[in-house]
Amino acid sequence: MLIRSPKDWELSESAVTAEQIYRLRNRRDFLKTLGVGLAGAALAPRGLLGATAGFPSQENPAYPASALKPTAYDFITSYNNYYEFGTDKSEPKDQAKGFKTDPWTLELAGLVNQPAKFDVNDLVKKLGGLEQRVYRHRCVEAWSMVVPWDGFPLAKLVALADPKPEAKFLKFSTFFDTKNVVGQREAILDWPYVEGLRLDEATNELAFIATGIYGKPIPNQNGAPLRLVTPWKYGFKGIKAIVKIEFTAKAPRNTWNVMAPQEYGFYANVNPNVDHPRWSQASERIIGAGFLGGRQATLMFNGYEKQVAALYKGLDLARNY
Ligand code: MTE
Repeated sequence: MLIRSPKDWELSESAVTAEQIYRLRNRRDFLKTLGVGLAGAALAPRGLLGATAGFPSQENPAYPASALKPTAYDFITSYNNYYEFGTDKSEPKDQAKGFKTDPWTLELAGLVNQPAKFDVNDLVKKLGGLEQRVYRHRCVEAWSMVVPWDGFPLAKLVALADPKPEAKFLKFSTFFDTKNVVGQREAILDWPYVEGLRLDEATNELAFIATGIYGKPIPNQNGAPLRLVTPWKYGFKGIKAIVKIEFTAKAPRNTWNVMAPQEYGFYANVNPNVDHPRWSQASERIIGAGFLGGRQATLMFNGYEKQVAALYKGLDLARNY
């Protein structure tokens, strides 16, 4: 991945207020103060926001905001990797602005008993609404954030598709739209962006599909309207704007693995003991912590060892990076 010099210090001090506000107990106050809330979401023109069904979400007490220090909203939504909309971290916020993400259809296909196409808002309702989880987010480029996501467990979607016994993997695909998406007219990556998970990883309790951040629809630059979140893996697994999930018998290739197989693997598990060929993975820069705010030690599986270590028993993690 292209490594750029830090830009987070360029944001003003006021960016931090979103995080302080978030710490207020009263959720309605938080939404009102942020100036968005449900009314804001309802009034926004269709197509400029991601899916709006399911808000407000219910906090999942296993992943509360009180356990971690959420990164300010402004940092999460202005420091992005989304090469369809620019290769600089600051570009997706502007370049993805006009991209239409509602209405949006998700296709479930491949080795399943229930192949289907769903409108995203209908899907959220069908799955029983949204929950909120605050997760660590660690990029392979050695920076990190803490993000309050809204969404639903990927396991619910897998259950809906009802995989056949031969299905062992999931292949996720992003849209391919050279008419409206400038980045896809250039061969920056092997488009469309694709990612994969083993079926047992996809049904792990942590695997999540996000439709929101901080209690409101996920902005385009973060992957509206559906984005994969696997917090024990490097951020590049978190494919944005998913249009299709195909169940397969063989492991699918994933975009960064295709681009540079010696640097990016299929598993992409966060591991402070296995360095990237060009830099150390032992520590990470905390986005939004300020110029001197610093670094912290990277945790095995990004701090989610208890939930996922059993998935990789007996696997050589240095080879299967
Ligand atoms: N998804 C698509 N479709 N295109 C991308 O370029 N970048 C990935 C991932 N998902 C990417 C993508 C990378 S490298 C990272 S680190 C995360 O998105 C960044 O997510 P964020 O911008 O919400 O922090």
